[in-house]
Amino acid sequence: ISKTPKRVGVFDSGAGGLTVVKSLLEHKLFDEIIYYGDTARVPYGPKDPATITRYALEALEFFKNFDIDLMITACNSVSAHALPELRAKAEFDVYGVIEPGVLALKNADLPLSSHILILGTKATVGSGLYQRGIYELGFKHIEAVATSLFVPIVEEGIFGGEVLQSALKHYLGSVKQPDAIILGCTHFPLIAESICNFFPNRPLLIHSGEAIAEYLENNGCSGYGKRDSQLKIFASENPEGLKLIAKKWLFG
Ligand code: SIN
Repeated sequence: ISKTPKRVGVFDSGAGGLTVVKSLLEHKLFDEIIYYGDTARVPYGPKDPATITRYALEALEFFKNFDIDLMITACNSVSAHALPELRAKAEFDVYGVIEPGVLALKNADLPLSSHILILGTKATVGSGLYQRGIYELGFKHIEAVATSLFVPIVEEGIFGGEVLQSALKHYLGSVKQPDAIILGCTHFPLIAESICNFFPNRPLLIHSGEAIAEYLENNGCSGYGKRDSQLKIFASENPEGLKLIAKKWLFG
């Protein structure tokens, strides 16, 4: 990290990235968090890489108004496809959540014979980035499932019950008991318990928010001191709605 970051910009396709903000707040890494959710165009997961990259570059323009020191792409779909372009154009460091997620799995020290399950959007799973990173750690039993319906289910405020159970059965019904699950989408921490309970034995969970917060803490942000962060929320559509969700998810 090239500059001690005080003000961070967190970009997400919508509300899901608030799960990453929650971890950043808990770790007290920054003075100020500027959150921008592209609520007008969520979800990004079914969109193609060129569209996701174009939207991410528009978000970069938005953050240019705020003199941020560092940008985090909370959205896994953006992290999977837009990081090289963002890094080429940004005047500050840009971090995604995929590399920190892979590192968190490495740090968990599981036996290499473990079965690792990656859950994400079509864009994230299709990029193969988690699969490649985890394979390079030495794991050979890797399964990735694009659980696309989980995103609208969570956006609808459904965190349990019949609809979610049907979706879990649909996607995970024939999946072998995993030893670890990569929650490779910002929305999935909100249904993490239901995902875990679907399997007879509780797997280890890798959470993007915790992974990036720990990564930053171990790479230069902790020196800045433990402070409470101010949070400012912006959205491309209905910012008041997003602020209400933030109140509920972060402080409710
Ligand atoms: C989405 O926008 O489809 C979900 C967010 C993510 O990929 O993490």
